[in-house]
Amino acid sequence: SAATMGGYPDFMAKEIAEQPEAIERLLKDRLGPDGVRLDELAMTDEEIAAIDRIFIVACGTSYHVGLIARPLIEEWARIPVAVEPASEFNYEDVLVTDHTLCIIITQSGETADTLASARKMHAAGAKVLAVTNVIGSSAAREADGVLYVQAGPEVSVASTKAYTAQMVAAELIALFLAQRNGNLGAREVARRFHELQRVPAMIREVLHRSWQDEAAARAFVESSSALFLGRGLNATTAAEGALKLKEISYLHAEAYPAGEMKHGPIALIDPGFPVVVICPDDRVRYKTLSNIQEVKARGATVVTVATDGDQKTAQLSDYLLLVPAAPEYLVPIVAVVHLQMLARYVALARGCDIDKPRNLAKSVTVE
Ligand code: G6P
Repeated sequence: SAATMGGYPDFMAKEIAEQPEAIERLLKDRLGPDGVRLDELAMTDEEIAAIDRIFIVACGTSYHVGLIARPLIEEWARIPVAVEPASEFNYEDVLVTDHTLCIIITQSGETADTLASARKMHAAGAKVLAVTNVIGSSAAREADGVLYVQAGPEVSVASTKAYTAQMVAAELIALFLAQRNGNLGAREVARRFHELQRVPAMIREVLHRSWQDEAAARAFVESSSALFLGRGLNATTAAEGALKLKEISYLHAEAYPAGEMKHGPIALIDPGFPVVVICPDDRVRYKTLSNIQEVKARGATVVTVATDGDQKTAQLSDYLLLVPAAPEYLVPIVAVVHLQMLARYVALARGCDIDKPRNLAKSVTVE
């Protein structure tokens, strides 16, 4: 109803706009004198020091959160991490010990495949933590420790605010583990936490730039397919952007790690083919720029997520989706907001039902 949408045209628009407050809520009172506080995970320092491996298991957009979390946990806490879609994980013969930690990520807390993974890991002797948005959900009840992301009810089938809040939650867990097992000092943890606190303001800035997404949407309306490219953490941003576009605009969209493009997807490019490139100012920017040149040379229409002030990238792009300068581990949380708005504008232009796309459900309670 219009009332619960609070004046927004659809729930997706409302939930995109709510992202800054959701993250502020999640970060509130999370930094104590000893670093990041996640008491609800109920983990002792001994337990954390003994973790031999982490499995992150999730589905859909929540699976993408796991892909973002993996390299950060490995880099910051130096613990090996494997990420699997639950529907695959459940049929694998995985190596589990008493020191294995399983983290399930699920907005609804009711996704059947994800719940089955949690039960499988419990049965194998692993400890299970849940990152979820819904208080008292099945995932919360199944897990040994729960981190609620507190994004508030998410109604739109395409997940937006739960995605960004879950990424922040995953980064908090990475910092927490790193500080507890001694791989990051308290000062470094505090410094990164303070950077995370800048994310809401950066997202607000991106929300003010929705006109950039509205303009770029024109590149897709007449098309039947699109390619999303990115490197490192932003290979996942590309995957999430492609998923959003598929879900609500019914356009075929494929995401590829930018460096892999030359092994196949580049054959798709012909004049006017829309390519979204996530190319922020990071350590792989110059490599991604050469991918932009390659698709441009074949006539692609290039939509680039770039950092404010990046003239070189601007010159090579047909449409720019600009983000404020940010540390690499924060860019995926900020950049995806453009891709959410882009997908929504494409879906609107194609006359699609934004909140209730065909064939999809908000949570899938069958395996
Ligand atoms: C469904 C929804 C997706 C969601 C996925 C996982 O497919 O349409 O938006 O990402 O389930 O849901 P969960 O609640 O487990 O995060």
